[in-house]
Amino acid sequence: MSDLFVELTAPNGVKYTQPIGLFINNEWVKSKSGEKITSINPTDESEIASVYAAGPEDVDIAVAAARKAFNNPSWRDISSTERGDLMYKLSQLIEEHRETLATIETWDNGKPYSVAFNDDLGEAAGTIKYYAGYADKLHGQVIETNPNKLAYTIREPVGVCGQIIPWNYPLCMAAWKLGPALCCGNTVVLKAAEQTPLSILYLANLIKEAGFPPGVVNILNGEGRKAGAAIAQHLGIDKVAFTGSTATGREIMKMASVNMKNITLETGGKSPLLVFDDADLDQAVKWAHIGIMSNMGQICTATSRVLVQEGVYDQFVSAFKEHLAKTSKVGNPFEDSTFQGPQVTKAQYDRVLSYIESGKSEGATLIAGGEPYKDVDGKGFFIAPTIFTNVKDDMKIFREEVFGPFVVIVSFKTEEEAIERANDTTYGLASALFTKDIVKAHRVARRLESGMVFINSSNDSDIRIPFGGMKMSGIGRELGEAGLSAYSNLKSVHCNLGNWL
Ligand code: NAI
Ligand code: MG
Repeated sequence: MSDLFVELTAPNGVKYTQPIGLFINNEWVKSKSGEKITSINPTDESEIASVYAAGPEDVDIAVAAARKAFNNPSWRDISSTERGDLMYKLSQLIEEHRETLATIETWDNGKPYSVAFNDDLGEAAGTIKYYAGYADKLHGQVIETNPNKLAYTIREPVGVCGQIIPWNYPLCMAAWKLGPALCCGNTVVLKAAEQTPLSILYLANLIKEAGFPPGVVNILNGEGRKAGAAIAQHLGIDKVAFTGSTATGREIMKMASVNMKNITLETGGKSPLLVFDDADLDQAVKWAHIGIMSNMGQICTATSRVLVQEGVYDQFVSAFKEHLAKTSKVGNPFEDSTFQGPQVTKAQYDRVLSYIESGKSEGATLIAGGEPYKDVDGKGFFIAPTIFTNVKDDMKIFREEVFGPFVVIVSFKTEEEAIERANDTTYGLASALFTKDIVKAHRVARRLESGMVFINSSNDSDIRIPFGGMKMSGIGRELGEAGLSAYSNLKSVHCNLGNWL
């Protein structure tokens, strides 16, 4: 028992019991190999807890549990209203445990506590609640053909779903995936990101407490190449949903082909933000800042390429720099005044620094940051918010996803040029544009090659609105009503009404 839980006191004084096992069949177990992964606090590089890591054998056990639960009448035949009720209960429990969950999220991930508490936890509970409401509103159609035939469709769950989530929004990403999957009647094997498993394991207890039957949701911590790959290529899994890097998304797509799994992929981006001469510059500056610097720049839809029309370019750059200096306060994420905490891991910290080096060596102009931020007790993976100008479109820092507090700003002359350069990327997740001209706004929005366009805002996601990418930013949509089709199959029934043959 004590091997599977540890009593912890977080830096903000919150005390709680941290599960460190694998959650299979509503029970906590050790991994077969006994291997563990240690979670690190990115703020001071201290160890928080060591957590059992699943391997392929453990994935087999979890998949068997999920399969059994899928066929178990207590889940398969549950009324859709009751299924919704279980989800409402889970949403309420997330609310009740909001302080603890936000604390764990900040401790393990490094994001500001106020953001974890207000935004992430609100969104996680809200997503489960939103999809709880859909559980009893799923239906097929009757399709008229001729008098001898009754034809109709039934919306059925896909089956056992493998879900692989990233570390930038652990609880939100779990909720985005669990919400529609459970709503549609699937069962789940979810793998936490090995960098940030702690909040997800705590959530597992709430799933049990809410009353979900054993095996409906199984939660594993584990490395991508071991547990993640075992999920992606498992013959007992019908669908895999993934959020993370484009490189890993491609691997998962290949592995999922083994049994032609239904797939949803939400991958990387290098999203452009266009500022036209006629924009409200003050608004453009504020949103551009939020668009790249929030969550330490670790957002898939981060508008990391800012393209500004030449008439307002100089003014924008100096206002952006000034705004950044005023608002991007780097510090301990448990302090209220902190806007930017540490990068999630040493690996991400090194990655961002390597792009800073690349920008310098390729000859771009560094106008802010460009180095580790050392003023938070000399420890932790902090990076000074960084701006490069004089960036050429063929430079690595203009083309590749950095995933840090790192922005490039360039200028453009015409609308046509802006659209062309914005679209000159293998990615297509999001884009943003600023103009007061309503006609131009919608004209440009249609031509931008991305799954989402923000007009006069950035990163403006909402659980009721479909989220996903084009090109190499992914396949399928999450959130909103559209998110349901990723977790259900349509069965067509043709019934002969006559004896005319
Ligand atoms: P990653 O894509 O490798 O990891 C995301 C998830 O996939 C984790 O749960 C990981 O364990 C799993 N995974 C890794 N390799 C796998 C494999 N071969 N088979 C199955 N699952 C696997 O991302 P990583 O390495 O943590 O970060 C690298 C870069 O990816 C970041 O710098 C960023 O550019 C991008 N990224 C994008 C995210 C997004 O929200 N779109 C989230 C996280 C990372
Ligand atoms: Mg950590």
